[in-house]
Amino acid sequence: MKHGNKHSSYRIDHATVQRIMDAADIVDVVSDFVHLKRSGANYKGLCPFHNDRTPSFHVSKAKNLCKCFSCGKGGNPVGFIMEHEQMSYHEALRYLAKKYNIEIAEREMTDEEREQESERESMLAINEFALNHFENNLTETQDGRDIGLTYFRERGLSDATIKKFRLGYSLEQSDALHKAATGQGYNDKYLFATGLCGKSENGRVYDRYKGRVIFPIFGTSGRPIAYGGRTLSSRKDVAKYVNSPESIIYHKSNVLYGLYQAKNAISRQDKCILVEGYMDVISMFQSGIENVVASSGTSLTEGQIRLIHRFTSNVTVIYDGDEAGIKASLRGIDMLLAEGLNIKVLLLPDGEDPDSFARSHTAEELAEYISQNETDFIRFKTAIMLKGAENDPQKRAEAIKAIMQSVAKIPDEITRHVYVQECSSLLNVTEQKLMSHMEVARTKYVEDKANEQRKEKARESIKDIDNKPDNNAPVLSTQQPDSIEENDKQFTAYAAYMKTYESEVVRYVVRYGVMDFCNEIDENGQQYPIKVIDYILRELNVDNITFTNSVYQRMLNEANTLYQENWHNDFAKHNETLIQQRQQAIADGIEEIRRTANDLSSITAKEQALIERVDKEYYDNIIEFNCQYIAKFMMYSQDDQVRTIATDMNIEKHELSKVHTKYAKIETEIDRLTELIPRAITELKDAIIGCEIKAIQQEISNLSSSPNADIERIMELMARQTELNEIKKQLAKVIGDRIITPRK
Ligand code: GTP
Ligand code: MN
Repeated sequence: MKHGNKHSSYRIDHATVQRIMDAADIVDVVSDFVHLKRSGANYKGLCPFHNDRTPSFHVSKAKNLCKCFSCGKGGNPVGFIMEHEQMSYHEALRYLAKKYNIEIAEREMTDEEREQESERESMLAINEFALNHFENNLTETQDGRDIGLTYFRERGLSDATIKKFRLGYSLEQSDALHKAATGQGYNDKYLFATGLCGKSENGRVYDRYKGRVIFPIFGTSGRPIAYGGRTLSSRKDVAKYVNSPESIIYHKSNVLYGLYQAKNAISRQDKCILVEGYMDVISMFQSGIENVVASSGTSLTEGQIRLIHRFTSNVTVIYDGDEAGIKASLRGIDMLLAEGLNIKVLLLPDGEDPDSFARSHTAEELAEYISQNETDFIRFKTAIMLKGAENDPQKRAEAIKAIMQSVAKIPDEITRHVYVQECSSLLNVTEQKLMSHMEVARTKYVEDKANEQRKEKARESIKDIDNKPDNNAPVLSTQQPDSIEENDKQFTAYAAYMKTYESEVVRYVVRYGVMDFCNEIDENGQQYPIKVIDYILRELNVDNITFTNSVYQRMLNEANTLYQENWHNDFAKHNETLIQQRQQAIADGIEEIRRTANDLSSITAKEQALIERVDKEYYDNIIEFNCQYIAKFMMYSQDDQVRTIATDMNIEKHELSKVHTKYAKIETEIDRLTELIPRAITELKDAIIGCEIKAIQQEISNLSSSPNADIERIMELMARQTELNEIKKQLAKVIGDRIITPRK
């Protein structure tokens, strides 16, 4: 039972974790990234972890958990943040602590820990340094004010806007940032990794954005992940914008400029406006249209679309381009259609871009213009494709095909049909004919997609093979195998086979570990309660069973540590509060009864009922506390595997999707623990013995088939086999006997 020291490099103390755990509300945490809608007692939204078209991401406020029933990802607040923000466990805890203003008592890191701090974190840290540096340049240096600030003001930006988007300036010096950062002790490795600095061929270090105004790009959680730097010169041979290179913290195709500032407005208005440039976003925002993001010059990617879809299904794309540009971008919009988004398109008057248009109009005018002029995308595409094709049958045919290809990508059948009807009059072609065009395109599209998914599945199932439990007991040797490879192979097969049984036993520990399991009688005839975890550990120890899957063993150990070291204290504290609450409730109740009752006998009866009710509440509360105790903490374990598995064990589909079934299920399981847990242990032991019997049989048959069989050994094995078979028979009974008084 010695495991896990390597998993505890350093610890955030129990009390701090508890504070974070109590404060972090899953609905609140998830809502920062996903637009959630209420659905009964729970919430639903589009899953941020996969390409989700209908909301499969469920959030349970009561359990403080989230889970996608399509891709399976989710967890408690810390698990969600880790997955979503790609943070380490400690980063995620720190994130939550910061969100809820909880102080983490963190000691000075050791050199080793400093080294261990992830690459990612270091890059973000240096980006944060740069952000402050650039911002500071803009307002606190002469050059910054004269050049950068003046420029932004000339373009009509207010100080508040400049601050909101954290705009900055990179000094016209070759290595001002490099000097400042390294002077502060930052490792310049990360200046290069983030692309803030570069190295020329002759080895000279330079600041990438030298002499440019800075547009920081934020991830959805608000940390700077990249920069765009705009030149102030109008020279043709200078790139207008220089952007951060791709890195582990910046995947351009999954980022939208302005989303961090816009996401609340997008959610609130259930609509997203898509423009092209940094300045377009900022100007529109300043003029009062806040639900606006930019794809930053590149054509829209699937990742960006998914990002939008998390917050809304309604997108309006604003174009300022010429006709050629518009045509080229039509393809990108097909992807929006395929995602099930409702797309509208807005053309601005000639010579205007969102930036100039926003600056020359009031917020009301802008909103009015948008609502008056945005056109449904299919209609827009039809108009563009038909332009100039009126008298050219071939062009017309091509246009019809192209439009039907777009329609074919719409996931919703009714919507597709509505478009076919509408296009029939727009194109002056019969509905029937259009429908057949559309169906052909649809079939092909669906097939292509299915192929793509099949390939994806195949790729995933290869990854998964190692994790599948084997349903047939593996054939093991009774003696130490000859080679290490054979030994490993057998052990792996054994562990895979045992996985189901071990995980079931661990599941009871995780979910019900510190609940009273049954009463036992000691030598003096005194009854005393034992807990689920006591019972299980003892059952395992009796037969010297340790788990073959080390993660389950670690979970068992962790649960036991929690129970031994923390539970008694935590429970005592909780109980104290409950007792106070109970007394208060009784006192209040009695006062109320005495005030309102009119005769003595009714007072007594009412008081009795009151006390019964309050007591029941008290006991229910204790059961609830104990029932969630181990799971709650284990979902905050610093052991990644432990945490993930504990979370999974605590999330079950029916529990999140329906309240009624949830309570029904938990109740029945809790009520049947005295039957279910011994059964799970019996099954585990049975499986272990089954494997041993199989190994023995194998050896007997090997021995018997050899010419000069070792009869003595065979006899020995057969005796053992009989013995094991007998134990197998006895198992259920033995376990049953040990329960003296079942919990009432
Ligand atoms: P202003 O010209 O100052 O109004 O900036 P803008 O943000 O409106 O840029 P523009 O409309 O010219 O281009 C749209 C977007 O394309 C910009 O915001 C950038 O993200 C990107 N972009 C434009 N020019 C360049 C360039 O030279 N290099 C790179 N990498 N991106 C560019
Ligand atoms: Mn512009």
